[in-house]
Amino acid sequence: MKGKVTTNIAMQLTRAKAFAPASVANVAVGFDLLGFSADVAGDTAVVEKIDEPQVVVGEVTGLMTSLPLSPLENTATAGLVRLVRDRKLNFGFRVSIQKGIPLGSGLGGSAASAVAAIVAANELLEARLTLNEMLSYALIGEGVASGSFHADNVAPSLFGGLTLAAMNETAPNELPTVTVSELPIPEGLWCVLLHPNQRLDTKQARGILKPHLQLNSHIEASANLALFMTALFTSDFDLIRRSLRDDVIEPQRAHLIDGFYEYQKAAYDANALGCTISGAGPALFAWARGEAHAIAVKTSMLQATSGLARAWAFELKRSGARVVS
Ligand code: HSE
Repeated sequence: MKGKVTTNIAMQLTRAKAFAPASVANVAVGFDLLGFSADVAGDTAVVEKIDEPQVVVGEVTGLMTSLPLSPLENTATAGLVRLVRDRKLNFGFRVSIQKGIPLGSGLGGSAASAVAAIVAANELLEARLTLNEMLSYALIGEGVASGSFHADNVAPSLFGGLTLAAMNETAPNELPTVTVSELPIPEGLWCVLLHPNQRLDTKQARGILKPHLQLNSHIEASANLALFMTALFTSDFDLIRRSLRDDVIEPQRAHLIDGFYEYQKAAYDANALGCTISGAGPALFAWARGEAHAIAVKTSMLQATSGLARAWAFELKRSGARVVS
């Protein structure tokens, strides 16, 4: 993976552009831990060097045209502010963002902006960051949107593929760090993403969650996570079908998503391997085996929305953030 998002000739660059894909977090069984990249949409950041050691929000284009102008409140720039400070840089960054992921969609839009910005900024550094360091700085940006540090969107958007991202213990003022494992993707695993015509605030969707879990729920959730991980490592689609379910978070959040149970039923009517909320919602994801199955699931889900949604079907791949110029 190392070097994947860097080039060798960029020492003197004053401008760089990077793309970071959307992502699906939680993956039913791994709340705040698991995620996979969804390279069917993404955000692009253009980062330019400026003389002053500060960070400036530039143009915002695409699906959104107004984002916070304060660099500490903008997900794309908050990590870069910290980078300028940590590295004691004698220059700064102007960051323009092209939003290809709707905000409040559950498709990892905040994470993608943060990842694209740090990947582009890295191109302008004389001493490059490692992937894990980029992850830490992107996490600071993502934290602005969700109110806490969890890398289940940032890690797959940066690394690509299906990742397990566990926060390390760090002191409050230290840069947050993450232990990332890249998980195997069984061949022929497809995803259907459905984005209903609705917007949900991540902080709201986190704020309603109960802080405690019953022992029996903990046991069931642990079993599903363990079975799911086994299924990935053994390419066991029956075991994926058995374990890809969320009995903890989904029941608490489903009411926030208009039509959630109808869309989920439509996925299961088409024999989906599993279907639940993507990230904090309102998007849903379903898994399928092979393209024909995925198209059938997508068609069924779209019909249930009466066309008031956008949907994609794609094969899971290891495609993460990349420099594009
Ligand atoms: N794991 C997070 C959640 C993703 O579901 O709240 C969104 O930040």
